Amino acid sequence: MVIFVLLLKVLIPNFMKKILITGGAGFIGSHVVRRFLQQYPDYQIFNLDKLTYAGNLQNLSDIEQNPNYHFIMGDICDSSLLQTLFSKYALDGVIHLAAESHVDRSISHPMDFVQTNVLGTVNLLNAAKEAWGKTPSNKRFYHVSTDEVYGSLGEKGLFTETTAYDPKSPYSASKASSDHFVKAYYNTYSLPIVISNCSNNYGPNHFPEKLIPMAINNIKNNQPIPIYGKGENIRDWLYVIDHARAIDTIFHHGNNGETYNIGGFNEWKNIDLIHLLCCLMDETMERPSGSSAQLITFVNDRSGHDLRYAIDATKLAHELGWQPSLQFEEGLKKTVKWYFENEEWLTNVTSGEYQTYYQTLYKEKT
Ligand code: NAD
Ligand code: DAU
Repeated sequence: MVIFVLLLKVLIPNFMKKILITGGAGFIGSHVVRRFLQQYPDYQIFNLDKLTYAGNLQNLSDIEQNPNYHFIMGDICDSSLLQTLFSKYALDGVIHLAAESHVDRSISHPMDFVQTNVLGTVNLLNAAKEAWGKTPSNKRFYHVSTDEVYGSLGEKGLFTETTAYDPKSPYSASKASSDHFVKAYYNTYSLPIVISNCSNNYGPNHFPEKLIPMAINNIKNNQPIPIYGKGENIRDWLYVIDHARAIDTIFHHGNNGETYNIGGFNEWKNIDLIHLLCCLMDETMERPSGSSAQLITFVNDRSGHDLRYAIDATKLAHELGWQPSLQFEEGLKKTVKWYFENEEWLTNVTSGEYQTYYQTLYKEKT
């Protein structure tokens, strides 16, 4: 096997791929980095991450010593850094996940979302276009996007790849804008792009400002679980490792210029999901008294709260053969288990200690 790989490397100089993954220290990005290192021992993976509050190198502590892994602390808005990275490492591919990702934060700080999600993405597109020239062969720019760009569904129907964009929050408007720029660079400059729009992810390493990890953390600490409005909003949940698998499939087998929807055909009303989670938590931990469900507290609704998201992932299944691997109950059980086995991660993240640590670390190094 080793001889075969070496032979291929001599015969095909591009065999060893060099891939830039942006936002690789975040929730989904860290699973994508791990998957690519595990699946493709011949690839060099460059993880460019600004380490905002959501970026955490502890997510990657198990692979940080891998000789094919390289971390670069930096901002996708820094065009000279991007230029350097493309020329220094002769990058073959980009998987772009770096983003401001939380809807509630986009309501209070919309400009942060314009800066990273829109301007940062265009900056990255420009760097790839300049580095790869007019006829890029064997290159790929993969933009990771969200189902929220399609807006909100009523009680029926699913989002398909041809559903018209109708974003409602500053977050989804910024992601929709970035998707349009990515498509424009394909049409105008023939940049070899591919886009995926995925539904809500859950699983290990999910930052506890989002619904599922927030509820796990609050139940562990016997704190109220805030549910917006009446808890009737619906989301379509996918285990994060299945998303990473889909990204791998699309990166390698998707067609240039195409969009692929990713989802698990797994819709849950928020309140039903939280009741299921409370049952799993009650099975896992000792409570002072009664069920965790007593902690459910209905609070003011999110402004402009989208009612329902639901993805039709038929194209991905039919054209590229991808299917989700886990049932939701199983995935949720695994997730709860992970949070109990990784209490230090949760404590560091909620105390903000890891941010202070990185600030000190990188100040000392420069
Ligand atoms: P996350 O917030 O957990 O991670 C984002 C990462 O990007 C962090 O590591 C952060 O430090 C980094 N980052 C932010 N701004 C940066 C900048 N200017 N330069 C470099 N790095 C920067 O997000 P996530 O939930 O892992 O989402 C990743 C991507 O997937 C996003 O593009 C998001 O829109 C998309 N997405 C997320 C979901 C979901 O359910 N979480 C679903 C569909 C699509
Ligand atoms: O659909 C994909 C999107 O899913 C991604 O693009 C986003 O990056 C990701 O954050 C997620 O967005 P949501 O807004 O759907 O996720 P969130 O976990 O914030 O909320 C899920 C649902 O739970 C939503 O209807 C709002 C509700 N909610 C959320 C929080 C944080 C509550 O009821 N209470 C809460 O405290």
